[in-house]
Amino acid sequence: MTASRKPASLTATQEAPVPHIAFIGGGNMASAIIGGLAKHGVSPANLTVVEPFEASRDALRAQFNVGAIPQADTSLENADLVVWAVKPQNLREAAGQAGPFCKDALHLSVAAGIRSDSLAQWLGTQRIVRAMPNTPALVGLGQTGLFARSGVSDNDKAWVEWLVANMGQFLWVGEEAQLDAVTAVSGSGPAYVFYFIEAMEKAAIEMGMSPDHAKQLAIGTFVGASQLAQSAQEPVSVLRERVTSKGGTTHAAITAMQSAQVSALFQDAIKAAQARAQVLGDEFGKND
Ligand SMILES: NC(=O)c1ccc[n+]([C@@H]2O[C@H](COP(=O)([O-])OP(=O)(O)OC[C@H]3O[C@@H](n4cnc5c(N)ncnc54)[C@H](OP(=O)(O)O)[C@@H]3O)[C@@H](O)[C@H]2O)c1
Repeated sequence: MTASRKPASLTATQEAPVPHIAFIGGGNMASAIIGGLAKHGVSPANLTVVEPFEASRDALRAQFNVGAIPQADTSLENADLVVWAVKPQNLREAAGQAGPFCKDALHLSVAAGIRSDSLAQWLGTQRIVRAMPNTPALVGLGQTGLFARSGVSDNDKAWVEWLVANMGQFLWVGEEAQLDAVTAVSGSGPAYVFYFIEAMEKAAIEMGMSPDHAKQLAIGTFVGASQLAQSAQEPVSVLRERVTSKGGTTHAAITAMQSAQVSALFQDAIKAAQARAQVLGDEFGKND
């Protein structure tokens, strides 16, 4: 990628040249990113996917008309940007296979837990950005934390932003260790929301509602309250207090949660996820 290139706005009529992007791994995450690029008019001719599983290659070709190859080859030498989207336990092997073909590219890894030190060692470059997305990226509503190594230029960062903006919102962290917190909060976060939705559904069903009604009320309440929180000027604590009049129904529920210390337990749970992210980073980065 040359310094003169500028990230284009995400419209179907791009004036700036779009980089050639290679995806190593063509699963859920790669599909989410490719889907976003396709939606914004990026030509499939700019994309190549390395995906060993034939059915996944067929699905990618059928859905996005992208070139999908079973293993890394010299066609990757054209890649300006390489997106590493394999499972963490496969990344080292994949880097050994594909890395030698794309030494001069900018690298973006979405693999959870793999530290950029390990990536730099495996790929032999400092032009590496680590990203921690989450599953709502599949519907364009993701949260992605980003960390750039020292070899990443402002122009490189702009290209990464151009790419991840397809998946929703993003933010840069200054210290790589903060990606463990991003992992614990937003990376694992959708599961926490699903957990609470499940609990609301169970309670509704126990109170005699049909599963369909329970599902609608639980999910709809999360969607509605989240949108209200996002559009409101006030902090969420104020929004909560506003619907918690003393002696009322919400007050009864919040009081029960406070006496069970649900908030403190939930915060501990998020810290457990952060600690696990640190351990996994250590394990995946081992050199033996
Ligand atoms: N899904 C999420 O919400 C999410 C969120 C944050 C981060 N991530 C990260 O994103 C990465 C990808 O996750 P995913 O959910 O997209 O996984 P996935 O659906 O399993 O996709 C990974 C793909 O990579 C392929 N692959 C394995 N070894 C390969 C190799 N050597 N070269 C090329 N391709 C290879 C796999 O093929 P086979 O099936 O044949 O092995 C699979 O199709 C993971 O590291 C994960 O930590 C995912």
